[in-house]
Amino acid sequence: MSNKMWGGRFSAGPDAALEAINASIDFDRRFYAQDIRGSQAHVAMLARQGIVTDEDAAAISQGLTEILAEIEDGTFTFQRALEDIHLNIESRLADKIGAPAGRLHTARSRNDQVATDFRLWTRDTVDEIDAALLGLQQALAEKALAHAGTVMPGFTHLQSAQPVTFGHHMLAYVEMVGRDRGRFADARARLNESPLGAAALAGTGFPIDRHMTAGALGFTRPMANSLDAVSSRDFALEVLSAAAIAATHLSRLAEEIVLWTTAQFTFVRLSDRFTTGSSIMPQKKNPDAAELVRGKTGRVIGALVGLLTVIKGLPLAYSKDMQEDKEGTFDALDTLGLCLTAMTGMIADLEPDAAAMKRAAGSGYSTATDLADWLVRELRLPFREAHHVTGRIVARAVETGTSLEELPLADLQAVEPRITAAVFDVLSVEKSIASRTSFGGTAPANVEREARAWLDRLGAK
Ligand code: ARG
Repeated sequence: MSNKMWGGRFSAGPDAALEAINASIDFDRRFYAQDIRGSQAHVAMLARQGIVTDEDAAAISQGLTEILAEIEDGTFTFQRALEDIHLNIESRLADKIGAPAGRLHTARSRNDQVATDFRLWTRDTVDEIDAALLGLQQALAEKALAHAGTVMPGFTHLQSAQPVTFGHHMLAYVEMVGRDRGRFADARARLNESPLGAAALAGTGFPIDRHMTAGALGFTRPMANSLDAVSSRDFALEVLSAAAIAATHLSRLAEEIVLWTTAQFTFVRLSDRFTTGSSIMPQKKNPDAAELVRGKTGRVIGALVGLLTVIKGLPLAYSKDMQEDKEGTFDALDTLGLCLTAMTGMIADLEPDAAAMKRAAGSGYSTATDLADWLVRELRLPFREAHHVTGRIVARAVETGTSLEELPLADLQAVEPRITAAVFDVLSVEKSIASRTSFGGTAPANVEREARAWLDRLGAK
């Protein structure tokens, strides 16, 4: 049997393989609410423009409302033979109201229809992601406030560098997530134009009002070029880029959590809610959730690269390749949402081990820069020379197996005779962090102020 929606020129039905490769209903049914919303706006416009009668429009609208209820209560039967969500709904409408159903698709094509649905869905999902990103920022900023003065080692090259505070480290991620939200917001603003009414590719001869449908669907305006409207998927690419970058940020934080929870680091403890045991090693408490956040980032990046690859060779306007835009996008945004939920829970529950971090913060000659800065301030040495003097002092400490703080004054003076006992004042980790009062620096007073400002801006939980 040929297809009842478009089979006029066909005498034979599709091969089973065609049906299998062609059908998108298994995944695009996710659009059902957006598809019905778009059709409601379209038919209201057709009636107002006198393109369909008010009576037909009322029957169509009523039928669509019933179909929405059928889908939501699980009584709707989706059919693969009807390819996609658009034809499944239209076919059901025909079963319900008969001939007037056939008027819904006047001055419209599945090409502008699917572009509209996908933009509406993406817009809704971006709003959900933004709320989840906000939740993560709040959890991070609360940890930051609670640990504004908790010392931890700061690293470069993953080697001890200079002491920082745990709160400062948390706030670094608050900033990163803030930019992630900015990227989603930018993408949302650009995607929020309506393709509806572009029809197949060239527009239509019917006197439609695209401004009316755009307004009804919450778009800021109709897209200006009908070819662009049905051909472009850069809105999805932008959202996937924002998702890939956000997931990459989560992955870095996840990697740090994995590292910090090792017996070698012991910087933080994860709650039982976010760790798992081993089936053989009774002592284990594994950071699986963090590992999976790190691992799942691969899928999100993969979705971006996948869609770029699908689109890169496509001539204008619509090609069926574009049906491949959905699964990766759905998966990427679902995955990001899940990772955000898991990360927010991990951060909220996580407990820093202040003693272990302080011990680690003092190791590795982490206050050597403070010593060099003291030489610049007190002895007026040029920084480059102070750096050299300090390097020799560090070498001396390495040789004798002591920390900088414990090095006898005589050893310091052997390198630079003008050094006095006052230098020991700047060599503790507390003194080091307290001194970093420059804008954006790690001094606890800065961190506390920044954490409060963020929590204020983010709104109470
Ligand atoms: N299921 C299709 C998609 O997702 C809808 C558009 C089909 N358009 C067409 N000309 N066959 O892309």
